Amino acid sequence: MNRHVLWMACAATTFAAGIACAETAPTEVQFDETGAVAQSLTGAPGNAEEGAKVASTRPLGNCVACHQVAALTADFQGNIAPALDGAADRWSEAQLRGIVVDAKHTFPESMMPGMYKTGPFIRPGDAYTGKAAPADLPPILTAAQVEDVVAFLMTLKD
Ligand code: HEC
Repeated sequence: MNRHVLWMACAATTFAAGIACAETAPTEVQFDETGAVAQSLTGAPGNAEEGAKVASTRPLGNCVACHQVAALTADFQGNIAPALDGAADRWSEAQLRGIVVDAKHTFPESMMPGMYKTGPFIRPGDAYTGKAAPADLPPILTAAQVEDVVAFLMTLKD
C-alpha cells in the first residue's frame, strides 16, 4: 500500500466511524512559538536505522541533497545547508521534529521543503482521479518516517 493510500484510509476511517486516527494529520500538527513540535506524530518513538535510510533516499527525505551527514554513506552530499552532524547537540527532539515537519516555523525564509505538509485544502475525492491539484499532494514523508528521521537526528551528537 503506498503512503498516500494509507494516509487516505486513515482519513476515511476518521470520517466514517468518527474514530480518531492514532496519527496526527499534517494539517493538525501543533507548533509552539519556536517552531517545535512536542508530540510524536505517531504517538510512538521512531526507528533511527529506518530514519537514516529515509534521510539518504531520493524520493523520500533526500536530506543529503542539501545537507552533509558524516554518519551516512550516500555518495553525493550537498552543501547548500548546514551539516547535520551534531544536530542533537544544537536542537531538542521537539525542535528537530518541527524542522522536519515544516522548517518554515523555525526558519521563516527556509527553502527546506516541509516534509509533512499538505496544502490547506484537503479534498479526498481528487486523490482517486489522478488529477490531484498541488494542494492535494500527500506529504513527502509519512508520520512514521518523520519519527524515524527524528530518531536518526537524535543520534547525531558531536
Ligand atoms: C532543499 C534543501 C534541503 C533539504 C532537501 C533538506 N534541508 Fe534541512 N535545511 C536546509 C537549509 C537551507 C537549512 C538552514 C536553515 C534555513 O532554512 O535557513 C536547513 C536546516 C536544517 C536543520 C537545522 C540545521 C542544524 O543546525 O542542524 C535540520 C536539523 C535539518 N535541516 C534537517 C533536515 C532533514 C532531516 C532533512 C531530510 C528529511 C532535510 N533537512 C532536508 C535545506 C534543506
